Amino acid sequence: MTYKDEYIASTQHPDEFWLEQAQKLAWFQPPQKGCQPTDNGYFDWFRGGQLNTSYLALDHHVKNGRGDKTALIYDSPVTQTTQHFTYKELLNRVAEFAGGLSRLGVTKGDRVIIYMPMIPQAVIAMLACARLGAVHSVVFGGFAANELAVRIDDAKPVVIVTASCGIEGNKVLPYKPLVDEAISLAEHKPQACVLYQRPQLIAELNEATDHDWLSLVEASVPASPVAVDATDPLYVLYTSGTTGKPKGVVRDNGGHAVALHYSMGAIYGISEDDIFWAASDVGWVVGHSYIVYGPLIKGATTVLYEGKPIGTPDAGAFWRMIESHKVNVLFAAPTAFRAIRKADPDAEFLSKYNTSSLRTLFMAGERLDPPTYFWASEKVGVPVIDHWWQTETGWPICSNPMGLEPMATKPGSSSVPTPGFNVKVLQGADEQQITGEKGAIAIKLPLPPGCLTTIWQDHQRFVDGYLREFEGYYSTGDNGYVDEDGYVFIMGRTDDVINVAGHRLSTGEMEEVLAGHPAIAECSVIGIHDALKGQLPVGLVLLKDGVTVDEQALEQDLVQRVRDKIGPVACFKRAIVVNRLPKTRSGKILRKLLRQIAANESVAVPSTIDDPSSVSEIETLMREKGLVNKPTAV
Ligand code: COA
Ligand code: AMP
Repeated sequence: MTYKDEYIASTQHPDEFWLEQAQKLAWFQPPQKGCQPTDNGYFDWFRGGQLNTSYLALDHHVKNGRGDKTALIYDSPVTQTTQHFTYKELLNRVAEFAGGLSRLGVTKGDRVIIYMPMIPQAVIAMLACARLGAVHSVVFGGFAANELAVRIDDAKPVVIVTASCGIEGNKVLPYKPLVDEAISLAEHKPQACVLYQRPQLIAELNEATDHDWLSLVEASVPASPVAVDATDPLYVLYTSGTTGKPKGVVRDNGGHAVALHYSMGAIYGISEDDIFWAASDVGWVVGHSYIVYGPLIKGATTVLYEGKPIGTPDAGAFWRMIESHKVNVLFAAPTAFRAIRKADPDAEFLSKYNTSSLRTLFMAGERLDPPTYFWASEKVGVPVIDHWWQTETGWPICSNPMGLEPMATKPGSSSVPTPGFNVKVLQGADEQQITGEKGAIAIKLPLPPGCLTTIWQDHQRFVDGYLREFEGYYSTGDNGYVDEDGYVFIMGRTDDVINVAGHRLSTGEMEEVLAGHPAIAECSVIGIHDALKGQLPVGLVLLKDGVTVDEQALEQDLVQRVRDKIGPVACFKRAIVVNRLPKTRSGKILRKLLRQIAANESVAVPSTIDDPSSVSEIETLMREKGLVNKPTAV
């Protein structure tokens, strides 16, 4: 089938198309139905089907005689460790740890928070939850205790799984004090905490509530996979929205397995014999889908890398990884390649390694800017594919379908809609579809399998946030355009979400933190262009009347607050005192206008503005402070 045939089949006859894909998996009870309406007015996939995701990812392959094949390669330059796990070994570890969780009382439907560095135990913990039908929620290690506490209160986990430390470059970061602080901040108190001791730092355990991973496993019996409904949740993954409260994206078991299995072949062109490396973190959706579940459900080999693109030890790190593990397909963020290019513009390190195993380089997390695209294409010498997706969709909405029919690449575009995603560019309340012009990007319902089914414990937020803007469509929150060949160009967010080093962050959440400072009356946080990280947050703060401060000391104070409340991952390093913020007559800060000034775009001053002179005033200040993007040659 060509891409076009497959795309038409998937969007015109979705039930038939996805039921056929579903047949490729080892269900306990195969589904008879595809997409069906639900009582809450939405829809679900494969209701009636029963399966277990860890069974699909592990037991199924062992049963089929592939137990001695390598499932997981762990490579950690920061600890000088490499470890290989066959499918049989990984299955044993997962079954044992699932037994441990079960001993602590975890059963189907219970939540387990996983706050772990990039070590095999993180993957084992995720699959162990899946084995029991428990719902995991992995929290990225770069988030502060407060963020963890917010997630504890929302997910209400029975158990938290953690490690004694993370290792970032040459820093050893203790995790246990952070977890303890989060638990003390949270209203909900988990029953137990399981901790994996790393030799780099031994944490002290509280006898009443804490369990050492290895001792727990020793005292437990391995657990068998529990049959769950296709529609039962596999995980909740929190992502930034426009408010301070993160959104718990809920992923089901059945649709997720079918979609990921399909994508491994159709998009990434991966077969069972391939080695796939997603250079992300298990705390992000890319890590969930393409470090853990996708490659393992496919029966391929996945790579878990505890290191950085540069500095561990140098800008040749990615090339060394490709050579050492014979990586066939690499998935990375453009920011990682910008970092490599900055450190080694002529890619001198590349010539020291044999990277001939590499077939394709996929990029996502942010738009692949053309200069990085051209540099990577020229230096690496393989097709470089930009593809667009979100935590919510769990797999790519647009991509060059390399496994179906490789297409010509257009720099700046994430290519064409993936089979299953009926992508439209809409403008205005009349939902007019437009070609060639910029508008809001929406996906016609139903979404294909694998996408979010709701927001954890808040279906109304799901409806209001995604389904209200355009009747019958899912609003992606991104804008862009489709050209005459059907290629999609994603140009940025329509909301206050920013993208820092491929990480999605909420400016609204940072504003809440800044507004908590006693000297601050009002503030706005905007993303400004950064050559390495894509965007960086900057706070524009207005002091309370009569308050005088040392601006530098205030900035340091605010930087520390964001670090403490959100975490170092926010990369919040600048705050500027302003005399006025442009507002509407009703007192709303004109954030979009600030974003337009920062992006050096033509500014649309709304008629509702309170004082038009505030615009030129803030623009002058932002230029003086270097906050306005300078046009760069492409
Ligand atoms: N645990 C604890 N802290 C973490 C962390 C983790 N898992 N990940 C990041 N941090 C901290 C870092 O130590 C740093 O702290 P600092 O301010 O004390 O130095 C801060 O968060 C910012 O980290 P990072 O964004 O990694 O910036 P960097 O300057 O250290 O590295 C890059 C720059 C470009 C090399 C790095 O951002 C990178 O590798 N980006 C790729 C990200 C990626 O793969 N995203 C894909 C998502 S699909
Ligand atoms: P996340 O949910 O963290 O994966 O972030 C999703 C958001 O990142 C999207 O809504 C986009 O704004 C942005 N994004 C991810 N991949 C791309 C891409 N290939 N091109 C443009 N934007 C992207």
